Amino acid sequence: MAVLLTGGAGYIGSHTCVELLAAGYDAVIIDNFSNSSEKVLERIREISGRSVVCYNADVCDESALRRVFSENKIDCVVHFAGLKAVGDSVKHPLEYYQNNLCATMTLLKVMNEFDVERIVFSSSATVYGVPKSTPIREDADRWCTNPYGWTKYMSEQIISDTAKADGNMSAVLLRYFNPIGAHESGRIGEDPTGIPNNLLPYITQVAVGRREHLNVFGNDYNTHDGTGVRDYLHVVDLAKGHIRAIEYAQKNTGVIAVNLGTGNGFSVLDIVKAFERATGIRIPYKIAPRRPGDIDACYADASLALEKLGWKAELSIDDMCRSAWNWQKNNPNGYGE
Ligand code: NAD
Ligand code: UD1
Repeated sequence: MAVLLTGGAGYIGSHTCVELLAAGYDAVIIDNFSNSSEKVLERIREISGRSVVCYNADVCDESALRRVFSENKIDCVVHFAGLKAVGDSVKHPLEYYQNNLCATMTLLKVMNEFDVERIVFSSSATVYGVPKSTPIREDADRWCTNPYGWTKYMSEQIISDTAKADGNMSAVLLRYFNPIGAHESGRIGEDPTGIPNNLLPYITQVAVGRREHLNVFGNDYNTHDGTGVRDYLHVVDLAKGHIRAIEYAQKNTGVIAVNLGTGNGFSVLDIVKAFERATGIRIPYKIAPRRPGDIDACYADASLALEKLGWKAELSIDDMCRSAWNWQKNNPNGYGE
């Protein structure tokens, strides 16, 4: 069975590709490499001993997509492709709406032409905005605080409406919490361009000497130590969640939204301590002002994933830190030279 991964050369897509190949699926990637490196393809081959067909093309390009679907018998699509930097989306909203929504709509249109009826979509906990309570269930209120978030919210809506109009379609909307870590081989991992926005890549860059210290954004939040609490999950666990979602989509029709998180919240300082424990490297930090738009705490109620998909995160915070460091120390400049 062949799965098309849009954005499959990216951080989560590449890890999912490795897990899919290991589980015996065939994988086809379409990626325009706007936020990834072609080196990923060689690394995937190295880890899995199998090659993937990859199209260097934009998902908004209808004719390129038609070529992908006509040259491969695709059974299911996992739609990762999208721009994902929150701050950037506030500065360049049209770029985000154009890319992320156009990709979703073009993909659905061409899937329909080729009678491909199963889609797993990369959504985000960002659709919950400022949660009224934690842990967050899938039926919680949704409201976004930035254009990136709105593209996820709107894509969920577009996919849901399309699936409802076609009784045979199956759509699984996966709302990821905070994926971190890397494949145990240290050959693929997260490779942000410029100064990392997210916590773990920043910490690993401090550890490798690329940055002097971590800025802890605020220590006056309503949490156990005053720093922000999030639900960090290992990217390999997350990748496996996609396989469960594909299996679910094979057996069911309709639309379902599912949280993928561990259900546990860790503060910024918990993560600093966990990283130090797992790697033996001290992370100097300074308390800095709050980052605009940040919230106190965000973690999942992960019970629906277990009930519907039979998925549960298995790897620990130590595994996440160790693997993130293994990737960073073996690739101090990511996929760059
Ligand atoms: P990523 O940037 O590493 O991967 C996205 C990939 O999509 C990149 O390889 C990029 O080149 C490609 N891409 C973007 N627009 C494209 C287009 N129009 N056509 C073809 N390719 C295109 O990001 P990631 O962390 O792997 O995230 C994957 C998905 O999961 C994204 O949709 C992201 O919004 C979502 N998500 C990520 C996180 C996270 O913390 N990483 C959390 C929640 C949701
Ligand atoms: C980010 C995204 C969000 C996305 C989520 C999951 C932003 C603003 N939001 O949020 O849309 O759904 O990831 O991928 O990018 N922190 C520091 N110092 C740093 C970096 C982060 O103290 O240098 C703190 C933050 O204040 C926060 C925690 O670490 O409390 C986690 O931050 P981050 O990794 O950016 O994730 P989210 O804030 O959850």
